[in-house]
Parts: sequence; structure tokens; C-alpha cells
Amino acid sequence: MLDIEKFDIKLDTEIIGRHFISADEVSSTNSELLNNKEIYDSHGTVFFAENQTEGKGRKNKVWYSVSNMNLTFSILVTDFKFLRRKVNILNYAASLAVALSIENLFQLHTELKWPNDVLIGGKKVAGILMESTSFGSKIDRLVVGIGINVNQPSFPGKFIIEPTSIRNELGHIVERERVLAEVLNNSEELMSNVISSSSIILNEWRERCRMIGERITVLSDGNSKRGIFQDIDENGFLILRSGDKTETLHFGEVSIR
Ligand code: BTN
Repeated sequence: MLDIEKFDIKLDTEIIGRHFISADEVSSTNSELLNNKEIYDSHGTVFFAENQTEGKGRKNKVWYSVSNMNLTFSILVTDFKFLRRKVNILNYAASLAVALSIENLFQLHTELKWPNDVLIGGKKVAGILMESTSFGSKIDRLVVGIGINVNQPSFPGKFIIEPTSIRNELGHIVERERVLAEVLNNSEELMSNVISSSSIILNEWRERCRMIGERITVLSDGNSKRGIFQDIDENGFLILRSGDKTETLHFGEVSIR
């Protein structure tokens, strides 16, 4: 079980994680925060679960995580005073927060894969799933769901990107409480800068994305597109160049080929 006291001592935020819910088992931490508007309404609430029975990954995939070994949690965002136009940058802030935390705590080199996978040595250590509900045409509630493989030793099954954990890369078990607190500390700092410093966030993200400049294939909605990964634009969308044509892609699965 997560030791809340240990975690709390290391938490250095004003808002994110100050309202913290820890559960043994839920279907999905994202769904808990999104669907229970009357219970959870304060901006920055964090919902953590030791086990998810229906953990969700991007593109309707399942997120498997062995209970009590990893981190699966979601951050509620309801304060949109200034955020609505830059919502997509939150994705980048969150993946950067995870990457920086792993680098700072364990001196492991991380890479970022578009749009928001965190890799170590080409293997996936964390993923982010942002989901929202709308009121009319405006986003009403948004959750940033983060799954980090911390101490899981093996990953049976078939994966598009081979998974790994911090433990496997370091060679020893690590304290989950420390990782969680560090990720929330970095998330608060980066997320609060989404408007004023979105270009800094995107530049830091670019520095860690080794696919920029490479020939890639992007799979989206059953279509496959090839070209050079030219850059990400100011909203974080992928700019794909094929010959003298460029195209902006909003989602998809990128691979080098
Ligand atoms: C991906 O890489 O496909 C995204 C994975 C996101 C998983 C996290 S775990 C906590 C939160 N709750 C969910 O159901 N999914 C996200």
C-alpha cells in the first residue's frame, strides 16, 4: 500500500494533490474523477488507485498495471480561467513532468514519443491519457490520467512498444511515494506555466523527442501516412512533411520506418 505520510512529506505543491484520494480498487481513476462531479470538484484533486479493473489507455486500449507496484492516478483540472485555449499543452506538461521526475530522481535518460509516451532506452515507462467532459461547446472537467511503471518486474503480453519499469532500468526497487510526490511537484510547476510558457514546455519536449527529423509512419483511424516528422506546432500537433507538402496531424501512433 502507498504510504500516505511518506508521500505527503515530499509533496511540495500548493494545489495539485492537496486533495488526495487513495483507493484500493476502482474501474479507472480517470472515470472516477470525470463521472463524480458532485463528489470531486476542487481543481488539482488527485485520485490514486492501487488497482484499476478497467484502466484505460489511449485509442481505446487497456492500461494494465500490477497492483501495489506502480502508480496509476489522475489529476482533476477544473480551473479554466486561462487554460481552455491551451488544453493540449497540458498533455506535454504532464509527460514532461514525468520525464523530468525520472531524470531528477534516478539520473535515467528519458525520451518522449509523440504525443505523450515516456520512454527509457526505447521502452515505454509511462503513458498519459487526457479525458474531458463538455458543457455546451466548452470543456467542463478535464482529467490528466498518468500511469507509470515503477516496480513491475515483467510485462507478459504483446505490445506495440515494449514496456519497462523504473525498477527494471535501475536494477532495484524504488519508493513509489517519492516518485508520485516528484511528479505532482513538477506537474504543478509546469501546468501553471501552460499559458505563460507554453513555448518553453514545447521546447523542452522537443529536446527529448528523438523522432523529430526522422522518417516516420503515422497510423490514425486505420490510415497510414509516411513522411518526415518535421516538428510540433505551437499547439503540440505533429507537422508531417511529404515531399514539398506539409500536413498537421492531431492524433495517431507514430513509428520510425
Ligand atoms: C497510454 O499510454 O495509452 C495512456 C495510459 C494512461 C493510463 C493512466 S493510469 C491512470 C489513468 N486512469 C486510466 O484509466 N488511465 C490513466
